[in-house]
Amino acid sequence: MPALITARLELQPMEPGDLAWYAELAGDAEVMQYIGHAGPLSHQQAIERLARYVRCWEEHGLGMFGVRLREEPLPVGWAGLQPLSGTNEIEVGYAFGRAAWGRGYATEVASAIVQWGFAVLGLERIVAVASPENTGSRRVMDKLGMRYEGVRPGSGHDSVYYSLTPAAFTRAAPLRALARGTTP
Ligand SMILES: CC(C)(COP(=O)(O)OP(=O)(O)OC[C@H]1O[C@@H](n2cnc3c(N)ncnc32)[C@H](O)[C@@H]1OP(=O)(O)O)[C@@H](O)C(=O)NCCC(=O)NCCS
Repeated sequence: MPALITARLELQPMEPGDLAWYAELAGDAEVMQYIGHAGPLSHQQAIERLARYVRCWEEHGLGMFGVRLREEPLPVGWAGLQPLSGTNEIEVGYAFGRAAWGRGYATEVASAIVQWGFAVLGLERIVAVASPENTGSRRVMDKLGMRYEGVRPGSGHDSVYYSLTPAAFTRAAPLRALARGTTP
């Protein structure tokens, strides 16, 4: 299974040993406000969700990574690719503990993940969904070069739907680089 490395972060496929940090982050109501509409996860729910993430890697060869700062032991968030339920699409997702917000980590990690999806896994399309009011997440999607495809009705909760192709991701590279203060 792959490890992905970015300028500041290292990503490792999630495994059962990730339970402690994952349960803590996923147990935070603010982190989970827009994820799954069920609120913070109980310890038991975190066990079950993590088991699902581990199974996803085994069944599909892709999945969620724990994301940690290079040189630091404990992950500060999780992100990755997974099948979007009820569709034939692969979605990119990301979530960080509050202390890690606002530093460009989501953009950095999501860029590395979709690059991996396109270049290594050979995907031709990656989608993302978010609550309409999740401005931060939608901004990350914009910066990746994702195209807004409209509102997708859900069971009681609408989601906004975005899609990305390899060509659009490449075209958006200067925007991402400029936002990080580096030369495109
Ligand atoms: C949404 C989330 C992943 C953003 O992570 P982040 O590392 O702070 O995002 P970045 O620093 O890469 O920011 C990307 C852009 O979004 C903007 N942004 C981030 N959070 C924002 C917020 N709450 N409101 C408005 N804009 C926001 C940033 O300013 C940046 O735009 P800019 O480059 O034009 O300044 C993070 O807030 C989070 O983990 N939230 C909880 C989990 C979640 O909702 N995940 C997404 C589910 S769809």
